Amino acid sequence: MAQDTLTGIQTEIDRRRAFAIIAHPDAGKTTLTEKLLLYGGAIQLAGHVRARKDRKSTRSDWMKMEQDRGISVTTAALQFEYNGFCLNLLDTPGHEDFSEDTYRTLMAVDAAVMLLDASRGVEPQTIKLFRVCRERRIPIVTFINKMDMPAKDPFALMDEIEKVLGITCSPFLWPMGSGPDFKGVYDLKSNQVYRYERVTGGAYRAPEKSSGLDDPELRSLMEEEIYTAFREGAELSREALPPFDAELFQECEITPVFFGSAITNFGVELFLNHFLDLCPIPAPVRLKDESTLQPADSRFTGFIFKLQANMNRQHRDRVAFMRITTGVFERGMNVTNARNGKSIKLSSPVAFFGQERNTVDRAYPGDIIGLINPGVFKIGDVLYSGDLPGGFPMLPRFAPEMFARLIPTDTGKLKAFRKGLEQLSEEGVVQVFHTEDGSAVLGAVGQLQFDVFRFRLEDEYGAPCRLESLGYECSRWIRPADRKKFSSYDWIVKDEDGREVVLFKSEYRMQSFLTNNPEITLYEHPENVPA
Ligand code: G4P
Repeated sequence: MAQDTLTGIQTEIDRRRAFAIIAHPDAGKTTLTEKLLLYGGAIQLAGHVRARKDRKSTRSDWMKMEQDRGISVTTAALQFEYNGFCLNLLDTPGHEDFSEDTYRTLMAVDAAVMLLDASRGVEPQTIKLFRVCRERRIPIVTFINKMDMPAKDPFALMDEIEKVLGITCSPFLWPMGSGPDFKGVYDLKSNQVYRYERVTGGAYRAPEKSSGLDDPELRSLMEEEIYTAFREGAELSREALPPFDAELFQECEITPVFFGSAITNFGVELFLNHFLDLCPIPAPVRLKDESTLQPADSRFTGFIFKLQANMNRQHRDRVAFMRITTGVFERGMNVTNARNGKSIKLSSPVAFFGQERNTVDRAYPGDIIGLINPGVFKIGDVLYSGDLPGGFPMLPRFAPEMFARLIPTDTGKLKAFRKGLEQLSEEGVVQVFHTEDGSAVLGAVGQLQFDVFRFRLEDEYGAPCRLESLGYECSRWIRPADRKKFSSYDWIVKDEDGREVVLFKSEYRMQSFLTNNPEITLYEHPENVPA
């Protein structure tokens, strides 16, 4: 490839950021996303009130069920520009229940924003999502939200993060008060104080004034007690808390911490500017032999991390979301699917913004694009042009933690049932297992996924069915040669690719099995089972 073309690609890569926001429900993920989109000019609503009202009927509410239940069950990839950067924000589902989809989305990002509610601190879903990031060494930036409401003490919050998650905190901003006394933040890096003024009706950008820490006006802004606590806290945090270390950040060992209030826009832009500096550019692909493939490589590669059926109900289409890992994607290009060696022309790639779609002509590493999927893609598919470098990593699957038998209730709709089962299982939100008697068992990491699956089979495919919970709590892939080692307590079923999986009644049962059969290995990810 010509040198000038290579430089052009690198310039595009350097300005890309692919990230997700991880949060426990209600921490303010939707609100923060909306504010980021406002700054990015991707939506032009002048204030949070309207934006939030509109949200219910437009953005990312793709499914009727979302509206019925007031939850967001889809994962959207939104792209927007800000200050010369091209941001790809992957939205992890925000409901209480967890899905494998959420894990997989995290395979497609280069960094994550961990959003906490300042009055609640670290919550159960924060812990689960954090663990996936840690396992993958995804750098995490922490945003402590809702500082306009009574909050826990900033030191106590950082102590909690360190104790519960085991990651060191390095504050970048320090809050001035909280609740009604929240007056702004002190930027420990630039030594500037940003004061916020409340505006009625929800301002587009929070007006902010900056000054030095010793500005006499600051003292007059708040009560003596709050001012003293702020000064002491800011000074102590500067002297006593660990300085930022880029290497430890990359390894997910240290997290920069920001404070703000998404709903009032306090600190969001400041956070965004720091975040863009901190968030790594699209990473090289680590091949199995530990060598790397640079994003600017002339070979195009990308992987499918999510399939979504019936995004547009009028078209009843299916969309495969692909993260580009190396090379340049061009509309109309021919690629090969590494799973089956088949060649496909990618003629209608799209970028998404809620229900809006824009055709994509070119895309670069770090970008997420949607491919209209006429049933040719599966989750985890790797697409490439030219030669696929040996040892290209595959997307892991995760072992489900709950199981239910799916029983069709209208025998006249069996054809639709099978079609729906096949298409929806391709999305990979739940895994479908097959039993010896020919029935289907669903496996998921969150209960809600079952309800969504059943609802969609009925709503989109006209195939009514019911779910029967099964008393199994964990699963592992096994080598076929080991199947005779399991007792009648355990249940061996097959996954969609015919691989054997054992279901255990409890974690305890699994552990005791391992203790009694130390020579046997159980596999959490099917890719690891030896051929
Ligand atoms: P989620 O996507 O993480 O589930 O959270 P979401 O943004 O929907 O926010 C959850 C609730 O918290 C919302 O209130 C939202 O307005 C509020 N919120 C978000 N950020 C802030 C903040 O910085 N300060 C304060 N005080 N509240 C915040 P709600 O009453 O559930 O919804 P709505 O009536 O505002 O739509």
